[in-house]
Amino acid sequence: MTTSETAIRTAVRDTSRMPSHVAIIMDGNGRWARARGLPRTEGHRRGVQTLRDIVRHAGHRGVRYLTLYSFSSENWSRPIEEVQTLMLLLKIFVRRDLAELVSSNVKVRVIGERADLPADILGLLLEAEARTAGNDGLTLVVAFNYGARNEIARAMRAIAADISAGRINADAVTEATIGARLDTADIPDPDLIIRTSGEQRLSNFLLWQAAYAEFYFSPVMWPDFSAAEFDVALEAFGARDRRYGGIAVGAEA
Ligand code: IPE
Ligand code: IPE
Ligand code: MG
Repeated sequence: MTTSETAIRTAVRDTSRMPSHVAIIMDGNGRWARARGLPRTEGHRRGVQTLRDIVRHAGHRGVRYLTLYSFSSENWSRPIEEVQTLMLLLKIFVRRDLAELVSSNVKVRVIGERADLPADILGLLLEAEARTAGNDGLTLVVAFNYGARNEIARAMRAIAADISAGRINADAVTEATIGARLDTADIPDPDLIIRTSGEQRLSNFLLWQAAYAEFYFSPVMWPDFSAAEFDVALEAFGARDRRYGGIAVGAEA
């Protein structure tokens, strides 16, 4: 083992260097399928299995919040059959897995625009939140019909309404006022954002909340992502030096 590998392993054992909140952009389902001569929808089916494995594994690792980007506000622009499959897979997931989530103490939170979701999908998401509301283990944040600009615009409208109704003063709007109006109100910012499939962009994910997140890009397509790959991301996180605009600990002159 090289010195740097030893340093990374030591860092991972130090639980203070564990991310409390991990957010994942689950990408590459379509390419995974195409590379095997399969329809893109098959990649999405396999991706749900990875999702199950990673939720369980993140819980075992002691992660407190796991956010999964499941469907973006821009994903409606995909072919109708693909959108329908993604909706169907969400329904199947909630129906099959909700009982396990309830019994394994997972608390579900849904973020994203709810106004234009089909009624059956919205109903299942609300049911998942309601039935797990009393749990206090891993919080699974499902970003569905989520787009960060849409989220920020809705927050701005809420603040504007409060100002015009005289409930708050424009001068009193702070970063906390904005954070409290976002869908993620009361969820801490992500410490680590993982994106699979080799793409290196945010695609309208958690723009406000990602201000000081660490990024980890994996070349692995989401259906092939595994607990072991997740651990490699945790190790990389453990070796990062988060400065928040200050200077490294111990670097004072
Ligand atoms: C991620 O995989 C799943 C969703 C966006 C819902 P993609 O479907 O984006 O897969 P690629 O990027 O086309 O390979
Ligand atoms: C981001 O992936 C959305 C989800 C993972 C749900 P996309 O595949 O939609 O992002 P782009 O289009 O490559 O930026
Ligand atoms: Mg993609």
